[in-house]
Amino acid sequence: MAQANGKLILFGEHAVVYGYPAIAVGLTRGARARATRSPSAPGSELVLGDERVHAGDGSELGRALEALLGALGVGGLRLEITLELPPGAGLGVSAAIAVAAARAALEHEGQPLASERLEAAALAWERVFHGNPSGVDTAAALYGGCLRFVRGQAASALTLARPLRLGVALAGPPASTKQMVEALASERRREPARVGALLESIGQLTEEAQPLLERGELPAVGRLLDRNHELLTLLALSSEALDLACALAREAGALGAKLTGSGGGGCVLALLPERGEDVLESWREAGLTCFESHVAAPERLA
Ligand code: PMV
Repeated sequence: MAQANGKLILFGEHAVVYGYPAIAVGLTRGARARATRSPSAPGSELVLGDERVHAGDGSELGRALEALLGALGVGGLRLEITLELPPGAGLGVSAAIAVAAARAALEHEGQPLASERLEAAALAWERVFHGNPSGVDTAAALYGGCLRFVRGQAASALTLARPLRLGVALAGPPASTKQMVEALASERRREPARVGALLESIGQLTEEAQPLLERGELPAVGRLLDRNHELLTLLALSSEALDLACALAREAGALGAKLTGSGGGGCVLALLPERGEDVLESWREAGLTCFESHVAAPERLA
């Protein structure tokens, strides 16, 4: 059984698509995959809950499987996936499935789990679902820990002076990353100066956040999380439900809160204070599903 992390983007989602840095953390929960020889070998299949697809069968999942296994150069496998997080909520489940499946496939074939090979295969999978992935989800799924990511570059690990307590609430219905990324791209074509300036501001605050995280200055990190949320709202990436979940968290003492991932729905995250239970309690009272996240230990990153 192979595993891969889900993720939370602390700073810089969407701006990362345009070359600005993002800071993300890997979650201990994500996806698991088991590889066996496929009964329909040399074809491959993937089983995810009630869904079963064949590589290249024309379905989105089938095309993604074909892209993943094609990039790895393996076939004739049956991959059974188990999810540990809700999909479509900005928690990087799609990338976690891809990395777990790629690890399981290589393990089954007795081949080494080279990170670059896994990353390239997972990115080929991600491209099927969303035409223009930055790769931040894939890097977090692979490496865990807290990392800085710039599109087209190797991710680097951040060493945090203090551990982060993060609360996560499922605040809106699942949203399509592809649609949200495309919506922003068309907004940028319509209003290049305004959208460009907002993306630039997100890039700047991500740069400001990095040393604050490394020094453990959490109240200042929290203020930047709030500001990042405001900028995403100005880019029309938030929703009433996401704004409300952030407001509830701040009222209950969170140091900062923002949507995480593509927005439009899905999750918000909150940087929790000492008494983080108050934030989770307030979300629960509002009927939201929530959990305190645990950051996955970093792996093999310089
Ligand atoms: O897949 P999600 O919803 O976690 O969003 C990924 C982050 C984006 O910046 C919106 C897209 C990307 O490819 O980086």
